Amino acid sequence: MVRQIGLRALLILIVSRSGFSKAVHVITVIIGDSPTMGYVAQSPGYDVAFSREVGLFPSPLQNVTRQTVYRPGAFSCSEAAEIIPFVAVEISNILDEHRFDFNVLISPGCSLEVMTLGDFAREWNVPLLATVAIDQSLSNVQRYPTVVTFASSEQMSLIRVMMFLLDRFSWTTIGLICEDPNLKVPDRGVFYFTACRGFRTALGGQKHKYNLNVHYFDPKIKEGDLDAYSSVLRNAATQSRVIILLITTNPRLRDFMMNAERLGMTEGDYIFIAPRSPLLPTEGMQIRNGSHRPADSAFQSLMLVYNPNPNWAALHEVLQSIRNVSEVRYNKSLTNIEMLNDITVSAFEVMTILLKVIRDLSPLDMNVQNGITFRQLFLNRTFNPLSRPVYIGPKGMRICDVHISKFNVTSGLMEVSDEYLSVAGNSVRTHALSTVWRGRDGPPVNRPFCGYTGELCLGGLAKTAVITLAVSISTALLATLAIFIAMYHCILGRSGHGSGRPWWDLQPDLLFVTPKPTAWKSLSSHGEVSTNSLGPVF
Ligand SMILES: *[C@@H]1O[C@H](CO)[C@@H](O)[C@H](O)[C@H]1NC(C)=O
Ligand SMILES: *[C@@H]1O[C@H](CO)[C@@H](O)[C@H](O)[C@H]1NC(C)=O
Ligand SMILES: *[C@@H]1O[C@H](CO)[C@@H](O)[C@H](O)[C@H]1NC(C)=O
Ligand SMILES: *[C@@H]1O[C@H](CO)[C@@H](O)[C@H](O)[C@H]1NC(C)=O
Ligand SMILES: *[C@@H]1O[C@H](CO)[C@@H](O)[C@H](O)[C@H]1NC(C)=O
Ligand SMILES: *[C@@H]1O[C@H](CO)[C@@H](O)[C@H](O)[C@H]1NC(C)=O
Repeated sequence: MVRQIGLRALLILIVSRSGFSKAVHVITVIIGDSPTMGYVAQSPGYDVAFSREVGLFPSPLQNVTRQTVYRPGAFSCSEAAEIIPFVAVEISNILDEHRFDFNVLISPGCSLEVMTLGDFAREWNVPLLATVAIDQSLSNVQRYPTVVTFASSEQMSLIRVMMFLLDRFSWTTIGLICEDPNLKVPDRGVFYFTACRGFRTALGGQKHKYNLNVHYFDPKIKEGDLDAYSSVLRNAATQSRVIILLITTNPRLRDFMMNAERLGMTEGDYIFIAPRSPLLPTEGMQIRNGSHRPADSAFQSLMLVYNPNPNWAALHEVLQSIRNVSEVRYNKSLTNIEMLNDITVSAFEVMTILLKVIRDLSPLDMNVQNGITFRQLFLNRTFNPLSRPVYIGPKGMRICDVHISKFNVTSGLMEVSDEYLSVAGNSVRTHALSTVWRGRDGPPVNRPFCGYTGELCLGGLAKTAVITLAVSISTALLATLAIFIAMYHCILGRSGHGSGRPWWDLQPDLLFVTPKPTAWKSLSSHGEVSTNSLGPVF
């Protein structure tokens, strides 16, 4: 052992003296065949990014090699985590073979899997780049000093923006509609399942501020089974005007909105807010069907909240290559929708960014890297792969902006109305659609004059009710006036100083590309759309 270390030190000395850079060996660790995170789904993204970068920068990347460690099978997240120690033995052997190289691990594993592998990576002092895992505990630098996460969807940012939105419009009584976690359909909607828990904890935890009512529905109800949605919606309607929808698929979200329309909930009194995993927001929602526009009015009461989608147009060639590689090397033909997979794009981003960091290192710097120092090279930095800007925060986790989309009646598309720039100092950029509300001049009120079920206005002629109504109307008017005065002062008072700007102030100087309006594609209402796939927009 001592002899090995001595030999290694000697070699490093020789290598660095002679100006040669240490070779780099990239090991991709993939457990299982999940349709989104598994071997066949993920590998083409890594392959294409690797050959693309090596093609563009052959000389600085000439000594970078790679290999994949893969366990076939269908595993749940916890099963995959249990397999990791066995895989670690294999990785350990590879690290031994490549002991004179600088080794890097990449894993598309779920959080639990990456946490287990992260413990080994710490002991080996080897960097571990995670494509999908998002658990906040991975930011614990004592336990995971070599881990960097790249997931393109970040729940914390969605929760933060949701709370900001609620505060911005003084919405405090909120309905949350989720799929029943006890009846969860395996391997579907992990994003929405964890998001439901996250929103419940975050909003429910602030009882002095928010009054949260959670409503569950059976995830096994058929999409298109309109009646099944009505009871959930009616329940929510009697308790709140602001309803958060955590719905696994776009066709089902569309069904919810169509039912809200049938129940008269889309006239402007209610607002529906739907956090989405990164995807083409309106994919499969069938807003327009020829000249018949079934969802036009329903969708005006909907806001979509999501982390930015990749720039699909810029990725056109990359996606074609991914499709080719998938077919030729992995015997899987991708449909148009499967080709537009945000998680595969994350794989492309991880590999591209890793090779960028490697080629920026001088031979001398490369030779002294270890897992801990290498991780530092990613922190507080924005990278610009073809797909979209990628910012890695000070804790080694990717931090994503958040976009809000609303329906534009003229174009018939869901278009970006607000951009929450988490990276650029938590500012907000608003667009024209931001101030457009269905059937009214401003956002829906938190609580109607007559109460959620009209209980305050019952028996319209009864004296007490009239008095109550008069009192509540004048109180409401006073309150509105007070809010106006407060806002007026707030805006006037702040306009002078830049640093004290409210979040939603326009900051046109920020360097951020405004996303183009997204196109949509109609699917039959039975077409199941994976939450990670997107419609063609080229
Ligand atoms: C790659 O390795 C070869 C042989 O060891 C060496 O001559 C060359 O300089 C290395 N290239 C880089 C970019 O480090
Ligand atoms: C479009 O609407 C027509 C009639 O309104 C209906 O028959 C047809 O099935 C719809 N198309 C789709 C794809 O849903
Ligand atoms: C994909 O394969 C087709 C047919 O084999 C080829 O014409 C095309 O150039 C390939 N595209 C890319 C981006 O590799
Ligand atoms: C490729 O996949 C098809 C099914 O999609 C299968 O029938 C065929 O045997 C596979 N070919 C190889 C070489 O694995
Ligand atoms: C990243 O920024 C934080 C503060 O935002 C700072 O404490 C930390 O040292 C920075 N890390 C690196 C590697 O630049
Ligand atoms: C809606 O779309 C139309 C046509 O694309 C565009 O001219 C208009 O500015 C959009 N409206 C808003 C409020 O963004």
